[in-house]
Parts: sequence; C-alpha cells; structure tokens
Amino acid sequence: MRTAEIRRRYLDFFAERGHTVVPSAPLPTPDPTLLFVNAGMVPFKPYLTGEAQAPWARAASVQKCVRTLDIEEVGRTTRHGSFFQMNGNFSFGDYFKEEAIAFAWELSTTPVAEGGYGLDPDRIWVTVHHTDDESRTLWRRIAGLPDERIVARGDEDNFWSMGVPGPCGPCSELYYDRGPAFGPEGGPAVDEDRYMEFWNLVFMQYERGEGTGKSGYPILGELPRRNIDTGMGLERMATLLQGVDNLYEIDETRPILDRAARLADIRYGADATADVRLRVVADHVRTGLMLLADGTTPGNEGRGYVLRRILRRAVRAMRQLGYEEPVLVDLLAVARDCMAPSYPEVAEAYERVADQAAGEEEAFRATLRQGTAVLDSAVAETKAAGGRRLPGAQAFLLHDTYGFPIDLTLEMAAEQGVEVDRDGFTALMREQRERARADARARKSGGTTDTTALRTVLDQHGPTDWRAWDTLTTDSRVLALLGPSGPVPVAREGEIVGVVLDRTPFYAESGGQAADAGRLSGASVEGDVLDVQRPLPGLVVHQVRVTAGELALDDTVHAAVDPEWRLGARQAHSGTHVLHAALRQVLGPTALQSGSYNRPGHLRLDFPRRGGLSATTRGEIEEAANQALRRDLPVGVRWMTLPEAKELGALALFDETYGDKVRVVEIGGAWSRELCGGTHVEHASQIGVIALTSESSVGSGMRRLEAAVGVEGFGHLARERDLAARVAEQLQAPRAELPERVAGLLERLKAADRENQRLREQAVRSRAATLAAGAEDVRGVLVVTATAHGGPDEARALAGAVREALPAERPGVVTIGAASGDRAVVVTAVNPAARQAGHDAAALVRRLLAGKGGGSPELAQGGGLPAARLEEALGAVRDAVAEGPDAHR
Ligand code: ALA
Repeated sequence: MRTAEIRRRYLDFFAERGHTVVPSAPLPTPDPTLLFVNAGMVPFKPYLTGEAQAPWARAASVQKCVRTLDIEEVGRTTRHGSFFQMNGNFSFGDYFKEEAIAFAWELSTTPVAEGGYGLDPDRIWVTVHHTDDESRTLWRRIAGLPDERIVARGDEDNFWSMGVPGPCGPCSELYYDRGPAFGPEGGPAVDEDRYMEFWNLVFMQYERGEGTGKSGYPILGELPRRNIDTGMGLERMATLLQGVDNLYEIDETRPILDRAARLADIRYGADATADVRLRVVADHVRTGLMLLADGTTPGNEGRGYVLRRILRRAVRAMRQLGYEEPVLVDLLAVARDCMAPSYPEVAEAYERVADQAAGEEEAFRATLRQGTAVLDSAVAETKAAGGRRLPGAQAFLLHDTYGFPIDLTLEMAAEQGVEVDRDGFTALMREQRERARADARARKSGGTTDTTALRTVLDQHGPTDWRAWDTLTTDSRVLALLGPSGPVPVAREGEIVGVVLDRTPFYAESGGQAADAGRLSGASVEGDVLDVQRPLPGLVVHQVRVTAGELALDDTVHAAVDPEWRLGARQAHSGTHVLHAALRQVLGPTALQSGSYNRPGHLRLDFPRRGGLSATTRGEIEEAANQALRRDLPVGVRWMTLPEAKELGALALFDETYGDKVRVVEIGGAWSRELCGGTHVEHASQIGVIALTSESSVGSGMRRLEAAVGVEGFGHLARERDLAARVAEQLQAPRAELPERVAGLLERLKAADRENQRLREQAVRSRAATLAAGAEDVRGVLVVTATAHGGPDEARALAGAVREALPAERPGVVTIGAASGDRAVVVTAVNPAARQAGHDAAALVRRLLAGKGGGSPELAQGGGLPAARLEEALGAVRDAVAEGPDAHR
C-alpha cells in the first residue's frame, strides 16, 4: 500500500468517527521550547494543557515532524528518520483509553479490502505502563490479546512527555512482529527491530515540570481534562505494509536512494557501509526538502543550523560514496516528486528550494576543499606523534580560519579513529568571543571605554580638524590622552593610549575603508598609530603605541600617514567602487552592495543573490572591472545637495546621516557614482589590477566577492601562474591543455577502477566455480565452506557467487568466512532449494556465532568471532547441516 494511501485511510477512518481533519502545521514552530514540530501533538499543545479551549472535541492529523537528536542513528537502524510523518488522533476531554485502544485495533486489523491496514492480529504485541491495569484489561477485552503479548514496562518506555514541561501521561504502544528473519523472538523487550513499534497511544492526564531524562522531573498535577494523543508512524506503517526492510526503502524515499546509487554508480545492498550512506542521503535530502519548502534557510544558528547540518551531511555522504559533483538539486527533484502528491507546496516552492540548496552546497564544497586537507594533515600529525586526540587548537583553527563547524571536525576525525579535545576547543571559542567583545568596546572609543571623557574633550575643543582628503602630514597639538580608565597626563614607552589631536591627516575607519597606519613623532616621543576611530561625530581618536620617550598633553607632534599604506588604501577603496559598478553592469541593478570592507591590497563586497555565480559570470565581472582600469577612467569628487546627488543616480549605500552637502565620488562620470567619504586614486589605472580571489555565501541569500588589488593583485596572479606552471611540468603538458589532460587522467582513473572491479568480480566468479565444483554432499545438501582473502565485502560477494554456481535443483548451503583484523565474519547464503528443505541462513549464522548476527533466511552475516576460531566455526557448518534444519532453528 502506498504511503499516500495509508495516510488517506487514516484520515478517512477518523473523520468517519467524528474527528475533524486538521492540516499539518509548518515544520518551524513558534513553540519556544522547540525548533521544529517533533510530534503530532505539538500544534495542539494549548488545547491539551487547557490553556485554550479546543474548537473540536476530536481531531485527526498527519503532521510533518523533524527530529535530529538521533541523527547519528539515521541509516544505521531500520527505523530512525530525521523527517517523518505522524498520524494522530486526538481527544480533548472527550473519549479516553477505551475508545483510543478500540480505534487503533480496528484500523490496524481491518482487512485491506474493507478499508483497514490488514495487519495480522496474531502478530501484534502491545506494551502498557506497569501501573496501568486498566489498559491491560481493555486490551484483553477489546482485542482478545493473550497476556503474554501484553508487556508491562516502566517509565523509561511507557510514560510519554515531550522532554520539556507540558502535558504527559502513561502510554501504550503497538508493535508488529516482522518474523524470525528480523531477529530473535520474545517481544519488543527483546528486539525492537523484529518487533517494530508503529503506534503510540498516550493517555494524557498530567502536567510535568522542568527536569531531565525520562523520569527526572516532577509531576505538577492533573490536567484540567483527560486527553488522548496518539502517534502512528506513517513511515513505519509503510515499511510494514510495503514489506520492505526499513523506512528508507518505502515509496517516498526509495527513489531518492536509487538515484543516489545510480549517480555514485553502486548497487544498494552490495556493501553495508555504502548502504548506510545511501540511506543517510535519502533521509537527509527529503528532510532538507521539507525544511526548505517550509521556509527555513541555512544558517549558523538554531533552525538554520539544523538545516545546514542536514544538507552538509547529505553532500558528505555522497562524497564518501565517491560522487563529488554538485548533487543536491538533482536529488531534491526526486524527493519533490515523491512528496508532492501529499504536499503540493513542495512543488510550488521547488525553484526557490533548489536555488538555496545549490548556494549552500557550493559554499560547503569550498569549505570542504580547503578544510579537509588541513584536517587530514592535523590527524596524520596527531597519529604520527602517537596521539589519539586532536588538540583543541587544531579544531579551533579549522573553525576560525576554514569555517569548519565543530561537529564536522568531530565526525571526520572520528572516521579516522581520532578524538577531538572538545573542552580545549570550547575554551578557545570562549576566549575569542571575550576578546572580540573587549575589542569592539575599545575600538569604538579609540582605546577608552569612557564616553564621558570623550564628550568632555569634544565640548572643550570642538571637532577635530580632519585633513585626510588633502594631506598625509600635519603638525598637531595633543589635546587629550585617554587611558583605559580615563584621561591621563602622559603616556610612557610601551603604553597604548587614545590620542586626540587638534588636527589630523589620518583616515578614521568608516564606509568600509580601514583606518590609516602611520606614526606620531615629537621632540621627545615616537609612536605607532595602530588604529583610528571616530567614536563621537567629529571627534577622531588615534590609538597609539608609544615606542620611545613620553607623550604628554600639549605636546606638538608631527603626524604622518604611511604613504605606502595610504596608496594601498586608495587603490582598494576605488577598486571596491569599480568592482561594484562592474557587478551591476553584469548582473543588473539589483546587485546592490550591502556591505564592504577594504584595506591595502584587499577588498570584499557583499551583495544579495540566491545561488552562487558561475565561473563564466565571475570572469565577466572581473573583465568588466579591469576594462575600467585599462580605459583609465578618471576619478572625481564632487559636492552637491542630497537631492542633486539622487537626481544624478548616485548610490547612497549606508544609513549615514549626511550634512547639507554630500560628497559624490565618480569613476568615469556616470559609470560609477556613489556617495562616499573615502580616499581614492585619481584615475582608474592607478588601481593596477583587480583579481577576484573568492566568491562565497555569507548567510542566506547573500554572496561575498573578494579580490586582491594593486601589488597584491599581481602577486595573486603570479602565484596562480606558478601553480599552473608546476602542474604543467608534472604532467608534461602545455598549460593550455591542462584542463583536458586532467579530465583525461580522471577518466583513465575511473576506467582503471572499473577494470579493477571487473577483475575482482571475475576472480570471485572463477573461485566460486571451483568451490562449487568441490561442494561436499552432506545428507543430500551441497555444502561449501571457504575463507575469503579480501575481507567481509569479498566474503559476501563470494557467498552469493558460489550459491549461484551450485546446481539450482540441489539444496545448497554456502558459508564463507573472512578475517578483518583479529576478528572474523561469516556470511551464509542458502539457495531456494535449501530454503524449501527448511534451511535458514540467519539461524545457521546465529548457531555458528552463538547467537550473534542476523539477516534474511537467504543471506545472513555475523561477526565478532576471534579470527583464530574461524576454521573451527566453518567446520561446524557441516555438522549443523547434517543435524538437519530443525537443529539450528
Ligand atoms: N505524542 C506521542 C509520540 O510522539 C504520540 O509518540
């Protein structure tokens, strides 16, 4: 039965029984205790607590849910999905236990032809809270369940709350026995894989307080009215009714999994590790789709971070499967086709979703490229030094410099068998935050945090006579010295002090341009200017380190901007205007700069856009910018009123307050016209060159272009040329042919991989034929046992191949062992004729391994055996077969 049909039957069933069907709420929830809806009852919480009066006595819904607490489990177990749908029926002070139990039983066991799910009543088990005799009696009476299939459990399993203060109560769960192929018998307490929970009935009657765990909280009291909240896992029911092994294989996720397998050119079911990754991809892509469609955007905190992590995990799983091309858009389209029948909104939102996912993926790929190399070498170093723990400082570097989120570092390190010093990392993060805060406070006030002192200086002396536009040097008088805790009369060698001068040539950081660097020198003092800020309008404060002598109030000093620095600053700032104009020329007027920063040699510029820029577009922008330099456009400054400037189309980018007249900087007249207080070159060719160094995402819908300018720009190009030259030398190819040569090499590598794989398979087949020919007849059953040399994967392949090679009409049992380190695995394959005779692969493996291992009756595997005992275990196969199928059951 298709998932959409299970959903429809559920809602119809409860609508016929007086329930109002309520549509799913969006995943992001306004509930302050949660990021996303994580259970069907969440949208109904106010009605369940009695905070609000429910508009209906009975309701039913199929609610979209996201839970990421168990994200590591996804793909590994059969039943953890980060996105799932919870079918629920609710009673608000109306019916209670008896009807809830009766409804669940009726819908589950009514035959398919009569509108139910047709589950076999004899395979249903239930659990009840150990204090809840009433439910036990009801299950006996309503369902006729024998006592041994009504299992009593404690708070851990059968008392439900949302993990936070709110409604709660004892619950009763329904389980379905999937049969011996899935695990040992004995009910849900023994094996929750074989006995799959599919429905939870919560008898809500209490309100709980703060606390942790499943029972570490107080019960505050009875709810005003007793309610029913149930949750039937739609994906789990689909797993049962579609007869598949796990919830990633149902009709709403399997196509994503298959597409991923096709892209990665692998077969699902051939390798356990790869299978887990495929299931992770299928799960995460669907979750990503549903979150994006509901308006969550990737980010660094809260909901955005959960989404970012999900998408990144999907991309990474694909890379681990060997597929390194951009993949999300492709897979999301498959997920859309799976989900749109139940959720038309995902089709409507698809274009936006695809755009956002593509942007996110591109940014992540850039991060991965850089960070992975750093992480790998850090791990190698740690291992070489005999360590098992990556220093916190390494994790911090990855985070701080390469944008690697800590959980990615943890995961990738763990894959290489290394831990991470998390405490060290956290301590460094805290230090950095504190430093940044102190820095921001100090910078704003040029070194002092005392705004009263600043105001007094401004009142006493008036605004600084600011000469940055006309000169690089002034002779100035020291009006005030501001120490960390207020005004001081003198600053000595080695001290850093805030200095207010009557006039200054220094540019104070503003409009995205970095502060000037330079020196103050006087009769008995030398000092370096470290930073220049304007903490109050009109008042410029220099942060100065005294390098020799003493700086005192009323001193006369020579203030000199470093001319090299200033030239670089002018190139970078004019370069920013040029790049902005080029960007708009190529992308159109919506590409409006929303922030920028420039300092000698470097600039960056942020602008709104969904999705990254293609290499071609980047090239066009760079070309348009450098054209302006080659044409040597003149740079001019004009003063005019704001309305005049607007009339001319000048771009006013910042929320600054402007005086009577505004300063308009033009490059090539109307080509670039911006309100700006910065320092600029006189004509464009003085910028030298603008070389784009990166393009990336900075938060949702915002891109960042970075460029090297002037000498740094040439340096950047020279380094790239050098790199190309070295690669060309290694490949012994002319530079122009590098792309084709590399593509050719990759192609050959792939072909060699394929050939390798083919040869391996051939070797397996030929060994299989030999082994099959030498099969031993054990009381009419052909038995083959052997050891594979290549590990568990080969053991599986060989077991399958030998089974195929045996004559189909004869019963055949094949067991292949393989060592993996000092442990060994065994794989058993049983052919249909042997199945018919009652032989069961899973039972046989469990017998060989004293209970460990599992799989299907046709193919099963188990591990954990000490390698030294492998021979003995293989020897036991013959005895087991000789004793007949019943002996190993
Ligand atoms: N609210 C209950 C659950 O999530 C039904 O299991």
